[in-house]
Amino acid sequence: MKRRLEGKTALVTGASRGIGAGIVRVMAGEGATVLAADLTKDGAVGDVQSVVLDVTSAEQWEVCAERIRDQFGRLDILVNNAGIVANTSVEDTTLEDWRRVMRVNLDAVFMGCKAMLPLLRVAGQANPSGASVINVSSTMGISALPNQSAYGTSKAGVRHLSKLLAVEWAEAGYNIRVNSIHPGTTRTPMLEQAAEIWARDFTAEGTVEAGLKALAGMAPLNRIGSPEGIGYAATFLASDESAYVTGIELPVDGGYLAR
Ligand SMILES: NC(=O)c1ccc[n+]([C@@H]2O[C@H](COP(=O)([O-])OP(=O)(O)OC[C@H]3O[C@@H](n4cnc5c(N)ncnc54)[C@H](O)[C@@H]3O)[C@@H](O)[C@H]2O)c1
Repeated sequence: MKRRLEGKTALVTGASRGIGAGIVRVMAGEGATVLAADLTKDGAVGDVQSVVLDVTSAEQWEVCAERIRDQFGRLDILVNNAGIVANTSVEDTTLEDWRRVMRVNLDAVFMGCKAMLPLLRVAGQANPSGASVINVSSTMGISALPNQSAYGTSKAGVRHLSKLLAVEWAEAGYNIRVNSIHPGTTRTPMLEQAAEIWARDFTAEGTVEAGLKALAGMAPLNRIGSPEGIGYAATFLASDESAYVTGIELPVDGGYLAR
């Protein structure tokens, strides 16, 4: 049987660890040719091709686009996943902290979509089911929590930019679908960092395990999600199974946003 992403080329940012690495594993397993991009080549997953790409650099996006143009002539799947957190209140966030989060989480999604547009257009014209852009936002881009001011605002921007591009590129006739995924608490190095802060501020024990338990309890399912779980959701949005799906926000959050 044909694998779900057979014949497709995918670029995944922030791919060395956590959710990005989970997406790479699932997409490669479904037959995609995956380019795994991150700040360095350390920690690249399996035998996929790795690319050094700081998503905040317009020049590096152009170099990456050239490489994909030369090697494949088109890009079927773009996953904008790279992201950083800043667990601070508005009061404690400096303008530089704010801008740093916006640069990585939001400006880079804009830059990546622009740089890859010509290659996505080629794929959109070649495949009736369309090329696919998947932007990794967060539940925090929809629902507000204290200490998530810069992060939550950047992720709300990612959600809206995704919808805007979905409409703009559909109406332009490019046949490029754009959707956002909204992970809830997902077991990654980023979450472990957040758990430390949660443990300190909100649990009696103060340990990382207690922090993780408290974070798990925020979701009705009362457990933490896996990077592969985000990979499966991304694979659906990347595959021809979702040919008529564009402009949606897909939570993978154990029911957190359903409350
Ligand atoms: N883990 C969660 O619970 C959770 C929940 C909601 C949303 N998210 C989002 O999922 C995405 C991945 O998160 P994660 O938990 O895997 O984080 P992580 O910190 O474990 O991994 C992030 C990866 O992005 C890379 N990265 C950071 N800045 C970069 C840059 N400028 N250029 C290229 N790569 C860069 C890092 O090197 C790292 O490999 C992020 O956008 C995050 O906001 C995570």
